[in-house]
Amino acid sequence: MTYSVAVSGASGYAGGEILRLLAAHPDVEIRTVTAHSNAGQPLVAHQPHLRSLAHLTLQDTTPEVLAGHDIVFLALPHGQSGQYTDALGDTPLVIDAGADHRLTSSAEWDAFYGGAFHEPWTYGVPELLVGGDKQREVLRSATRIAAPGCNASTVSLSLAPGVAAGVIDPGDIVSVLAVGPSGAGKSLKTNLLASEILGSANPYAVGGTHRHIPEIRQALAAARPSTDSGAQDIRISFTPVLVPMSRGILATCTAPIAEGVSDAEIRQAWESAYGDETFVQLLPEGSFPRTADVLGANTALVGLAIDRAANRVTVVTAVDNLVKGTAGAAVQSMNIARGLPETRALSVNGVAP
Ligand SMILES: NC(=O)c1ccc[n+]([C@@H]2O[C@H](COP(=O)([O-])OP(=O)(O)OC[C@H]3O[C@@H](n4cnc5c(N)ncnc54)[C@H](OP(=O)(O)O)[C@@H]3O)[C@@H](O)[C@H]2O)c1
Repeated sequence: MTYSVAVSGASGYAGGEILRLLAAHPDVEIRTVTAHSNAGQPLVAHQPHLRSLAHLTLQDTTPEVLAGHDIVFLALPHGQSGQYTDALGDTPLVIDAGADHRLTSSAEWDAFYGGAFHEPWTYGVPELLVGGDKQREVLRSATRIAAPGCNASTVSLSLAPGVAAGVIDPGDIVSVLAVGPSGAGKSLKTNLLASEILGSANPYAVGGTHRHIPEIRQALAAARPSTDSGAQDIRISFTPVLVPMSRGILATCTAPIAEGVSDAEIRQAWESAYGDETFVQLLPEGSFPRTADVLGANTALVGLAIDRAANRVTVVTAVDNLVKGTAGAAVQSMNIARGLPETRALSVNGVAP
């Protein structure tokens, strides 16, 4: 079967990356691409790298244009998806790259985003541990999927094995991330101008204000074998720093080692979580990833160190924010939800140099 697909936000970074991946997918036909201010223009005027889709024109993003497809991807600014998702009731599979359907708590939505709260959808990070299982099991029957925040999924994948196994204390997590500006989207912002970013490392959303914090706490709470305990005891100090690379996230996460846990038990937690995974790979002891190694790949590379002097575990994870952090997670989740091979149209290899 060939699935007809519509991609909204097709002139943006996330929409463009979804299209790049789907263009190589043998089971989909990209029928419709939509945008907002750029509607009416050729897709390639905004995505000149997508040569095989040169025949497509950006249409207006309306429920009528998006309806009638087998699969709809929404890649819109947060707060915009809800209005379309309500109108897509008949669409068999809808995948939202935005935040609108990620959070289960309306109080957290109000505190970090504001505006209308929309019901939570199935979270699109297949490798995440959830209650002793993996999120891919939940995704198999999903018809509505919330693709993750790029920083959020990077931190959650980094620490979920330790939280699930009880080998780290989730009450004192510290995460500092080097992130490329494509994570903030394509629209013009003064703080993202080349003259502000080149040759500089710029922290932002410092001091507990970043919108991905509740998403991480929610994912780590769900990682525990019993989800009864909620996220109340999960505390994270989260600081992103913009660095001059167009794509990529390098997350350095540390957390205290739980009492009485051996080094072997710590490493075993990550090995058993990711030993069989294609796209989340634990590096050998003493090795740590670089963002360059996952450029264009749907791969998260994870390096783990046990710092006994500080009594903390240090996890360094590299992802491409637009692939594993968004579009790759969305396509991987689509594959699972449609019963297709999970890795179809997704590359484990990066582009180098
Ligand atoms: N960038 C990432 O690494 C990343 C990672 C994870 C998740 N996401 C999520 O993906 C979504 C899109 O992000 P992005 O980085 O691709 O942003 P972007 O580059 O700024 O693209 C935004 C897209 O949405 C369209 N748009 C803007 N306002 C709209 C409206 N009112 N109605 C309909 N369409 C509208 C734009 O169309 P025009 O160009 O025609 O105005 C453009 O196609 C966001 O929710 C973001 O949080 C992004």
